[in-house]
Amino acid sequence: MKSNPDQYEISTITKGGLEVVIRPIRADDAPLLEALFDTLSPKSLYFRFFMRIKKPSKEMLAKLMEIDHGRDAVLIATERKEGREQILGVFRLMCYPDRKQGEFSLLVGDPWQGKGVGAKLLEHGLSIAKKRGMESVFGMALPENKTMLALARKRGFAITWDSDVCAYEMTINLTRINRN
Ligand SMILES: CC(C)(COP(=O)(O)OP(=O)(O)OC[C@H]1O[C@@H](n2cnc3c(N)ncnc32)[C@H](O)[C@@H]1OP(=O)(O)O)[C@@H](O)C(=O)NCCC(=O)NCCS
Repeated sequence: MKSNPDQYEISTITKGGLEVVIRPIRADDAPLLEALFDTLSPKSLYFRFFMRIKKPSKEMLAKLMEIDHGRDAVLIATERKEGREQILGVFRLMCYPDRKQGEFSLLVGDPWQGKGVGAKLLEHGLSIAKKRGMESVFGMALPENKTMLALARKRGFAITWDSDVCAYEMTINLTRINRN
């Protein structure tokens, strides 16, 4: 899965009219990622991490920045405002050792939710997974997370209940879909 991260950069406009650049995260984005986390409500944090936390610890943030670029993909949606870049959302794909399957997670800052950022990140993330030859991608959503479940359903994921984690598993078979 050798790849040049820069080839994955795109500029796009979301359904809600936000002009965003979607690109792989870099080590020097850590302060911007921290600023994104400052926008998150306890509900968003719970939906993303399945734990009731007020704010992620420095250790958690550091862990999120530990990325094996040869295996995983972490994309950020950024917006430039008054000359400064800010992160609106993050898509993370952690590949299994066979590199055919992987688990994704998605996170959009509270001020930008419902404006199509999550949909664009997911779309681009799945197209990269397909280009890399992955066969399927899955993610987990809590039953209260109607937005994530609606988004997954619209994008063609199969949704099944996982009683072990008390959450829905969303799976998409990339070999059956056309994405470029
Ligand atoms: C879930 C999340 C990633 C979705 O991203 P988003 O940018 O808010 O969602 P979008 O604006 O792209 O909307 C995606 C779809 O969800 C649906 N949707 C949006 N808001 C909704 C709501 N309040 N209720 C139900 N469906 C909703 C829309 O149908 C939309 O589809 P469309 O683009 O075809 O119109 C984002 O809300 C988030 O980060 N939530 C907190 C963390 C989380 O839940 N992560 C998921 C765990 S993997």
